[in-house]
Amino acid sequence: MTDPQQALERLMAAALAAAFGSEYADADPLIRPSQFADYQANVALPLARRLGRPPRDIAADLAGHLSDSGVIERAEVSGPGFINLTLRDDWIAAQATGQLSDSRLGVLPADPVQKVVVDYSAPNVAREMHVGHLRTTIVGDSVVRVLEYLGDTVIRANHIGDWGTQFGMLLEHLLDVGEESANEQLAAGEINAFYQAANAKFKADPSFAERSRLRVVALQAGEPGTLRLWTMLINDTKKYYNTIYARLGVTLTDADLAPESFYNPMLADVCDELQAKGVAVISDGALCAFPPGFAGRDGAPLPLILRKSDGGYGYATTDMAAIRYRICDLHANRLIYVVGAEQAQHFSMVFAVARQAGWLTDEVSAEHAAIGLVTGADRKRFRTRTGASVKLADLIDEAVVRAEEVIKDRYDDPDLRAQIAEAVGIGALKYADLSVARDSGYVLDFDRMLALTGNTGPYLQYATARIRSIFRRAGIEPDSAAGPVRLTEDAERDLALRLLGFGAAVHQVSEGAEPHKLAGFLFETASAFTTFYERCPVLQAGDEAVRDSRLALSALTLRVLLTGLDLLGIPVPERM
Ligand code: ARG
Repeated sequence: MTDPQQALERLMAAALAAAFGSEYADADPLIRPSQFADYQANVALPLARRLGRPPRDIAADLAGHLSDSGVIERAEVSGPGFINLTLRDDWIAAQATGQLSDSRLGVLPADPVQKVVVDYSAPNVAREMHVGHLRTTIVGDSVVRVLEYLGDTVIRANHIGDWGTQFGMLLEHLLDVGEESANEQLAAGEINAFYQAANAKFKADPSFAERSRLRVVALQAGEPGTLRLWTMLINDTKKYYNTIYARLGVTLTDADLAPESFYNPMLADVCDELQAKGVAVISDGALCAFPPGFAGRDGAPLPLILRKSDGGYGYATTDMAAIRYRICDLHANRLIYVVGAEQAQHFSMVFAVARQAGWLTDEVSAEHAAIGLVTGADRKRFRTRTGASVKLADLIDEAVVRAEEVIKDRYDDPDLRAQIAEAVGIGALKYADLSVARDSGYVLDFDRMLALTGNTGPYLQYATARIRSIFRRAGIEPDSAAGPVRLTEDAERDLALRLLGFGAAVHQVSEGAEPHKLAGFLFETASAFTTFYERCPVLQAGDEAVRDSRLALSALTLRVLLTGLDLLGIPVPERM
């Protein structure tokens, strides 16, 4: 099958060459979906200056040169020089029939394939994973699923915060409460309570604060007893993240951990290299890089601090080591950092310094896939009703409990009900994250995310369940529906055309690390299916060929939705 947009691009390239000469063949024809036709080509407008002719003339010329290739029904000039393009029904039908027999549903592999490091999730040891980490986890995991589906080699990097001066107080607190009860508390996810208790003592008790400082020194010196306790603390928190990942269906494993401490042995060398290259200089006793174009409020150049005057390294140093490692040792050619938008300046500076150092080149790209804030109804950072910051496990529980409310009248079997509620609750929570442009904030609202209508996880899950039930009633397997697709009703045509855009939607996720593009596509597809289902009887269709075609369209919709939801990481219950 061919993606309609690609087919039109090819035809326009030929028309451009035929009308204006071969040097025009590679002008971008600017094909966009259109409200007035299936697509529109906007290329005449930018060509007007180059050709010195009015855009409407150019558009008319191009429309006249669109060959009769069996693809286009009509090409009409409109407005200042748009070409409205309507596809032939039989062409759409043939492509849809082809899509049905294609195991990849028309999704072409990436070309060229890349080696991509995706840095995501990255919670901090002994700090509760908050809703912000939830979002980087969910968005990042969808991005890696899509990149792998397209054939890229993906390295997941979970850059957890397992290093820093706060470990002094955490380890002293661990000793105070005793290893065993600390283990229990942490693995149960009482991470905030643990952290806060340590922090309170640190502030109130000078002797505890002093012990904590000595403990940091011991940790940095690699004293074996201290390292053992530190490892214990990390393992306990890891256990907690892993239960969250498993429950959310996140593909991260321990093998993907690239914690801050991993880079410790590289920090001194990274500083030396940057200094030797003249990228970093000593300023007020500290080693700093001053990437061009960054200034503080007073207009003075803004430093990226690589080594403090006391010799200590920080978050930025670790990121410089990580970026060098990912480019020079892992040989990645694309780096994606799925991290909160509030770190935008940090990453711009890290990328700028890496470019000065010659690590980032034109062959390697680095992008900060910024994540917006999740807020409560009050538009402030999301908190529980008691005002405490939310424990992620509780948030997931709440989504599932509320999902059970929504579906409770439909199922008597408690096990089945619990199973469906789990998928619906988690699907709703994840989809709420994925359906919003990742860099805009959104209000976490359980009622809205669990609604069975609108752009929600449950609506999409429900669409798949409804299609499955059509096939159950028909007594046939969706996979055995082979068409051919024939289009007579508008609703059939709309659905078929929509389905052909699946490949483009998946590629859009890869381009900007933006899962919401796929979510939007799936929602529109499910909506087109809903209209089709209301207007076009499937099993009751009188004519056998019509019934076969409608079953084929239903089966294709099911496969596109299931594949798409899987790429988003949304679980799908068989029934709903
Ligand atoms: N642990 C950090 C935080 O919670 C996020 C780390 C993101 N990745 C990175 N390479 N800096 O804010």
